[in-house]
Amino acid sequence: MLILAIETSCDETAVAITEDGRRVLADVVRSQADMHAIYGGVVPEIASRSHVACIGALAEMAVRKAGISKKDIDAVAVTYAPGLIGALLVGVNFAKGLALALGVPLIPVHHIRGHIAANYIAYPELEPPFVAMIVSGGNSLIADVRTYTDIRLMGATRDDAAGECFDKVARVLGLPYPGGKPLDDLAQGGDDAAFPLPRAKIEGHPYDMSFSGLKTAVVNIVHNARQRGEALDLKSLAASFAAAVSDSLVPRVIAAAEELGYDKIAVAGGVAANSRIRRDLVRAAQEAGKTLYLPPLSLCGDNAAMIGCQAYYEYLAGARADMTLNARATLDIHENAWQAAF
Ligand code: KG4
Repeated sequence: MLILAIETSCDETAVAITEDGRRVLADVVRSQADMHAIYGGVVPEIASRSHVACIGALAEMAVRKAGISKKDIDAVAVTYAPGLIGALLVGVNFAKGLALALGVPLIPVHHIRGHIAANYIAYPELEPPFVAMIVSGGNSLIADVRTYTDIRLMGATRDDAAGECFDKVARVLGLPYPGGKPLDDLAQGGDDAAFPLPRAKIEGHPYDMSFSGLKTAVVNIVHNARQRGEALDLKSLAASFAAAVSDSLVPRVIAAAEELGYDKIAVAGGVAANSRIRRDLVRAAQEAGKTLYLPPLSLCGDNAAMIGCQAYYEYLAGARADMTLNARATLDIHENAWQAAF
């Protein structure tokens, strides 16, 4: 089954052609990061307009790259939630138009479920059940993936997402946006115990996380040093920060797998590119006897290939949208809202 998939939930316009949930024939991603960089974060209005400007051309490009013709497409899939509402609406409306014009089904896909499916592309042998940890610029959560489409939330951040926290700390240190990678680079060779930083715990909710206190702690260290005119060991501050984020994520996902009795852990999202987090995950999974699935960096960020792969399983489970499909800025991972007419 050939699916043309569309992803426009944030600042990447992406179109892919996928086959049967596992094979990627074309994967075209246009990042807008350069446009948002001068503002230090994503500007929703600019994101929406930029999606409008290039989605048509990207869809043509994906079809061409896949070496197929439009009439070979069996279904159109689209990310409809969660994300920036204006950005999502561009993809949803484009997908509706395309599905109608081609006379094929329209498959609605939850963005975070798509991130989990990035692992099916990277690891053809991977099948549920497993525990998934998704850490990106907008989300940080741990989920129980019971089947391809029965996915339950185990815990999530109560405030900032991990990536958002990386980006804000990087901004205070004067690093470019998005700050995760530059901060990761800065941390190399730093002393990760130089700065005692908080690791938040939420009473009674072992899998929930909180990153805003950690962010504030780093910001205060930087501001206090600046006010006193003191030089800071930025390498060690970056390393201490990465260690604190990693300590907030890695033990939780291992504990979740232990509790559920699963021997597989899959990770996804842009922050999964972090070298400290990757190193800690590999070590912790090995010690706990779990198999770790860490997709390559190219599949960690937003892309439409992951949406097309999840769409196949959603389709098999009966997901079909009609022309009343609307976008949703927020939506729990286990819910669907595509049946609700607006
Ligand atoms: O999944 P993603 O590409 O986009 C969404 O948020 O949906 O994730 C982007 C996030 C940004 O916050 C970025 O700073 C962070 O992933 N990131 C990293 C690294 N590379 C990207 N954070 C920490 N270390 C990295 N190496």
